[in-house]
Amino acid sequence: QKHLLGIEALRPDEITSLLDLADQYVDLNRRDVKHSDALTGLTQINMFFENSTRTQASFELAGKRLGADVMNMAMQASSIKKGETLIDTAMTLNAMHPDLLVVRHPHSGAVDLLAQKVNCAVLNAGDGKHEHPTQALLDALTIRRAKGRLHRLNIAICGDIAHSRVARSNLILLGKMENRVRLVGPPTLMPSQIGEFGVEVYEDMAEGLKDVDVVMMLRLQRERMDGGFIPSEREYYHRYGLDAAKLSHAKDDAIVMHPGPMNRGVEIDGEIADDINRSVIQEQVEMGVAVRMAAMDLLARNLREARANAPVEV
Ligand code: CP
Repeated sequence: QKHLLGIEALRPDEITSLLDLADQYVDLNRRDVKHSDALTGLTQINMFFENSTRTQASFELAGKRLGADVMNMAMQASSIKKGETLIDTAMTLNAMHPDLLVVRHPHSGAVDLLAQKVNCAVLNAGDGKHEHPTQALLDALTIRRAKGRLHRLNIAICGDIAHSRVARSNLILLGKMENRVRLVGPPTLMPSQIGEFGVEVYEDMAEGLKDVDVVMMLRLQRERMDGGFIPSEREYYHRYGLDAAKLSHAKDDAIVMHPGPMNRGVEIDGEIADDINRSVIQEQVEMGVAVRMAAMDLLARNLREARANAPVEV
């Protein structure tokens, strides 16, 4: 692959290879062997047009641990604010010969469009409601390490599915790896084209969580609700917030996930989120660094190979 734009483009064996490499980076990070030269001599630019804590910090750490020169563009202070378009901004940065561009953008498809205009590797750090591929990969690694496998698991993705790129990328990935995925949430927060995914849909948490191995909670993404149905937080927590009573319907050893940022007392009870016997939320963050190291390592290998095989210009 030249870019990492979405899970859609990845084959199951490519997902497994990336997770295997990420596993090695988890091990190295834990043993404090944090520096390698996989990206030495390469320049990584992070362009975040939307807020981020986990994704931006982990991409920056990942690049630095692999030896890249990393630049974080302060998009709020850039010439985008003077009316420059996304593509003109990308072309301008492209002229400075970056090797890896990490892009988060509020519009679905914006990162794919940008990737067509530049001649470096592009990684999608989340585009609108479309995809968040590194989130799905880090979730997959977390599940695989906790459950010992990434197939034939019962997984419930719960909450605001309609506005979630995390849900979409996870649905695609977990389906490709032959898991049984269910969606649980209010009908008003289900996407209209849900049929295309061939998954079971539940309105009731007790039914939806029955005997699942993994409970994946989602954030209420109010910033994408543009005037549509916005539930009151009290009502939402009562019906869909994960608490001990609702979790009791899952398997006894079910793990609890949340991509963050989480709203305690809205999507999830604080005690459940902090329960080290059930919650793998902190592991998800740890896996995020390793998965992003693996993704950039693999793309850099492909980039170097393509450049080595490119015809010499005279
Ligand atoms: N999960 C996730 O994408 O978090 P951030 O928005 O903090 O990057």
